[in-house]
Amino acid sequence: MGEPLKKEDIRRVLEFYRAIGVESVPCEPKARPGTKAKARRLKTAEQKKGREEKQKALQALFNEEIKGCTGCKLSAGRHNIVFGEGNPAARLMFIGEAPGREEDLQGRPFVGDAGKLLTSLIEKMGFSREDVFIANIVKCRPEGNRDPEEDEIEACLPFLKKQIGIIAPEAIMALGRVASQTLLGTTVQISRLRGNFKSYEGIPLMPTFHPAYLLRNRKDKALTWQDAMQVLKLLGMDAG
Ligand code: URA
Repeated sequence: MGEPLKKEDIRRVLEFYRAIGVESVPCEPKARPGTKAKARRLKTAEQKKGREEKQKALQALFNEEIKGCTGCKLSAGRHNIVFGEGNPAARLMFIGEAPGREEDLQGRPFVGDAGKLLTSLIEKMGFSREDVFIANIVKCRPEGNRDPEEDEIEACLPFLKKQIGIIAPEAIMALGRVASQTLLGTTVQISRLRGNFKSYEGIPLMPTFHPAYLLRNRKDKALTWQDAMQVLKLLGMDAG
């Protein structure tokens, strides 16, 4: 950067402009020192407030509507309701099918073998589990890890919809057939759905394979990574 112009130099330049008929010159007000840092601090404070409000709303949803739920037959066999976990203001949500044995015992989503694979995908994408929000279509374990039945999904889905409404993520990755078909209201096979963005209530949703499927079909991990890279691009992030 050159030396700042002196007042006398500016006066001479303006006189020259006036002499050649220029009546006015556009002029941006100079940002005062510290303005950018102050704006950044304000934005961070707003984000923090937004996150706290979302956390409160999720807590209220659990306390007032979900705790002790007996809305379907899955409640009889559960140890814990698996509400979901992560950043209440997450940019990205992962939605699976239903808690398995380990999830039911711990009350946390995706903590078994499929969960380990999901965690490594999340980390490969450049996030931690705490950055994103992880939930399921149903919050209680179907015995023997069978697929959740229609009446169970119908009873539980309104809770997930409320969670998505509160978190308002910029993108959703739907893991497997049940999550993808349920959220998109379709019966199209997951192998045909995956890899193309769809929309859930205006939120871009990427259907992809379920991690439990990938444990049995390792060669399809590359396709899931392709899906994840599309999501990263949408979020304006580089693939790690
Ligand atoms: N499979 C799911 O779909 N969800 C879990 O939380 C665990 C395994």
